Amino acid sequence: MTFPPPRALAPAERTVSSRRAPGGGPAVRASYDTVAEDDAELVGQGMEPEATWERAVLRAFAESVAPGGRVGDLGCGTGRTAGRLRGLGVSVLGVDLSPQMLRVAARDHREVPFRTGDMTRLPLAPGALAGALAWYSTVHSPDEQVEAMAAEFARVLAPGGVLCVAFKVGADGSAPAGWLRHAYGHEVRLPVYRRPVDALCALLGRHGLTETARVVRGPDGGEPSPQGFVLLRRGARVAGSAS
Ligand SMILES: C[S@@+](CC[C@H](N)C(=O)[O-])C[C@H]1O[C@@H](n2cnc3c(N)ncnc32)[C@H](O)[C@@H]1O
Repeated sequence: MTFPPPRALAPAERTVSSRRAPGGGPAVRASYDTVAEDDAELVGQGMEPEATWERAVLRAFAESVAPGGRVGDLGCGTGRTAGRLRGLGVSVLGVDLSPQMLRVAARDHREVPFRTGDMTRLPLAPGALAGALAWYSTVHSPDEQVEAMAAEFARVLAPGGVLCVAFKVGADGSAPAGWLRHAYGHEVRLPVYRRPVDALCALLGRHGLTETARVVRGPDGGEPSPQGFVLLRRGARVAGSAS
């Protein structure tokens, strides 16, 4: 995933800094509330802007989930991945921080239920999901927040449940690789993190999520970094989760 698509962001609009991220949630929500309508229009509601590997990973994820099980698209944005999973026969619900992104998602994907929520404290019961998808929704969050999200992913997944994370790959995830200050013609303020695959898997592993597969593809279409996709399975026992 190019974030945002290259045609929507001129190189001069990018400002790269090594400053650490601010608090996270409110700034991320405000930025996505601002771009919601244009995000839906520019990124599109299918997966057309995505490469073959993205579609393959989503299909592998969908086929890994227990038949009939419910999947949470966590940080679902305007619902394009939720819509694709639904098209693959998966029972899916979407959760996002941004009410405006969800307004567009509900408008464009009427068959999918959506609810407002923060991945660091998900509005879902323990063990409620057979699968969880975090498709580029951790890319604006520092490690300490991703740690809290990982605990929540493990809590809401049933034993044996599958997590799929799409993210940007980089050498050092401890600080933002850059800041997005303009997107889709709007001013935003979003740190962008790129993480080593091993580091992310180790972080998730601390919460009882065991890696089953990883895919890394090279940059495509002007993307500044490789893209990573990991599938993990929740073990039988996770602290604070249904067993
Ligand atoms: C890069 S967009 C990806 C959206 C969608 N997954 C897609 O691929 O089209 C990141 C999304 O994650 C959401 N997000 C970021 N942090 C979040 C959090 N802590 N809880 C819930 N949603 C979050 C944002 O509101 C935004 O919609």
